[in-house]
Amino acid sequence: MTLFMIGLGLNDEKDISIKGLEAVKKCDYLFLEDYTSKLSVPVEKLEKFYGKKIFFATRELVEKRAEEILHKAIEKNIGFLVIGDVFSATTHVDLFLRAKAKNIEIKIIHNTSIMNAVGVVGLELYKYGKTTSMPFFEPSFKPETPYDMINQNFKFGLHTLVLLDIKKDQNRYMSVNEAIAQLLEIEEKRKQKVFTKSLKVIGCARLGSDNQLIKYGEVSELMRYDFGEPLHCLIIPGKLHFMEEEMLKLWG
Ligand SMILES: C[S@@+](CC[C@H](N)C(=O)[O-])C[C@H]1O[C@@H](n2cnc3c(N)ncnc32)[C@H](O)[C@@H]1O
Repeated sequence: MTLFMIGLGLNDEKDISIKGLEAVKKCDYLFLEDYTSKLSVPVEKLEKFYGKKIFFATRELVEKRAEEILHKAIEKNIGFLVIGDVFSATTHVDLFLRAKAKNIEIKIIHNTSIMNAVGVVGLELYKYGKTTSMPFFEPSFKPETPYDMINQNFKFGLHTLVLLDIKKDQNRYMSVNEAIAQLLEIEEKRKQKVFTKSLKVIGCARLGSDNQLIKYGEVSELMRYDFGEPLHCLIIPGKLHFMEEEMLKLWG
């Protein structure tokens, strides 16, 4: 039978595409991968709208016991629901390849991802450099890659999208303020003037929802700004075209 890999979009149960919903209706089992992102509604809302029971696909199930999902797809239609897009930021290539190796038919149904929803702030998507992820710091784990990535993108005048850590099991979603505090901590150590308090950055919250929030300002201002509920991400602009500058004025 078929493994449907279905992007749900960014916000609620109604962001699924018509094609996605048609596929959902054909499925015998639905799995929701929700450890790498978060919808603004509980799973029950999806179940009610889709008229189907949804099982959580934990990281452990997807990464270590994917065979359990794929085994079902040999005889049944399986829907693997991904928040955002199926292959954006979190790729799910491993599951795709494993299904291919088992000759399981796969259908991909795309949707909006955070990777393109950030277009709304007005910076050209073509002018973003490497995207980077900011993990929660721990006493013995303080990776400086996001700082290096911002620096590298700056050298080519490119914008940087910083995706922020999620620890679903602890109900922890990194805020723009926490990301800024960690980048300032790295700056304090490295002193390369890459991420200073006078740098102008963009904080985004809940993009794609009715109460999305976009704020452009100096790090010193945004570090104290209340962005509200998750999810958040941070954008560091590179060299700005005058049209981009015009757009950014809207969020000041
Ligand atoms: C791994 S990415 C999401 C991948 C997902 N498959 C997609 O296509 O959007 C998760 C991170 O992106 C950011 N993010 C996702 N959705 C967001 C939203 N609606 N508003 C702001 N940031 C968001 C957050 O930093 C979050 O921790």
